[in-house]
Amino acid sequence: MELNEKTIATGFKNVFNTTEAPLIVRSPGRVNIIGEHTDYNDGFVLPAAIDKAAYVAVTKRADNTVSLFATDFNEAHETTLDNIVKTNKHWPDYILGIIDQLQKTNAVIGGFNLMVAADIPIGAGLSSSAALECATVFALDALFDLHLSKAEMAHIAQHAEHEFAGVKCGVMDMFASLFGKKDHVISLDCRSLFYEYVPLKLDGYKLLLLNTNVKHKLSSSEYNTRRQQCEQGVAWVKERVPAVRALRDVTVEMLDHYVMPKSMLIYQRCKYVVDENNRLLQACSDLKKGDVHALGKKMFATHEGLSKEYEVSCRELDFLVDHVKDNKAVLGARMMGGGFGGCTINIVKEEAIKKLVEGLSPAYKEATGLDLDYYVASVEDGTRIISKKEFAHV
Ligand code: GLA
Repeated sequence: MELNEKTIATGFKNVFNTTEAPLIVRSPGRVNIIGEHTDYNDGFVLPAAIDKAAYVAVTKRADNTVSLFATDFNEAHETTLDNIVKTNKHWPDYILGIIDQLQKTNAVIGGFNLMVAADIPIGAGLSSSAALECATVFALDALFDLHLSKAEMAHIAQHAEHEFAGVKCGVMDMFASLFGKKDHVISLDCRSLFYEYVPLKLDGYKLLLLNTNVKHKLSSSEYNTRRQQCEQGVAWVKERVPAVRALRDVTVEMLDHYVMPKSMLIYQRCKYVVDENNRLLQACSDLKKGDVHALGKKMFATHEGLSKEYEVSCRELDFLVDHVKDNKAVLGARMMGGGFGGCTINIVKEEAIKKLVEGLSPAYKEATGLDLDYYVASVEDGTRIISKKEFAHV
């Protein structure tokens, strides 16, 4: 079913047996061109919002009940505002996590009905969970007149993910979903949240996402481990250079002196992050100069680092990157997001996409036993209200 204002409003009215028109918010998934595992190290990222999104439809209730429904799972969950706890059923936790954070900031909200629908593939590394969290906080902000800024919403969503989903993620996914701008990437400094929109001019090339269809089982525990390893490296450098706060402030020389003698593994992890931050800054200037070829080469280098040094890739992701490496129509390719599954992001000449996918799919199936899905991503605006009903301050 195509998701738009009409289909979602109709679905909502059926689910909640009401004639009241809901407020509907669309919040997109994201890609990240380069700058992976840098966000929680106070570094830089280069994400963009895409044409796949999560939608929530909401109306107020007169009581303090929170009644939720997910169309994709055909499943309901109901609780009350004085009993917001984790369910471990996954999808409700992203919404309940937002309520929990709002309650911690003393925001005043009442009961509500909420329906969620999405066309972002789950577990594909396109941040379906951040999209749902951002859609929820944006909708509740409008419904209950909370007057939160988008930066505040990004932090609320990030903390909801930490506490209710158990992933100690950075701010990139939420920021990209909320701040996305059509045909632009966001050059974001994750320390200051200073950002700049850079036009994504790919000149006959497209962003092709190849989905391994590997659901990353290990990802949250390994993700949190990587984060701790980075923090350990920073702690060792800090013993000698107290001004250092995060890997963002660390140089390769510091790692050589203060981390390598203590642990080669921690060195390797930190070195990847320091290199990646530098790579991103250069990639950003490539993009501004319109040098997509140079940008593409850096994406391959990022993959190498993620696979060999940071060790968050997997056989299937490596297979997909290896198999496009020598293809002249592919400027760059790498695994994207947290890792251990999900998608690769590729910059591919538009007219070569069909042939590439037709050649790769059977080879991938033979090597892995899995189907290969693909999407040509277009870059779209961030979180928006898409329903026409007027709300007081909107
Ligand atoms: C996941 C996290 C992000 C970021 C990426 C890796 O998507 O949610 O915060 O750390 O992994 O770059």
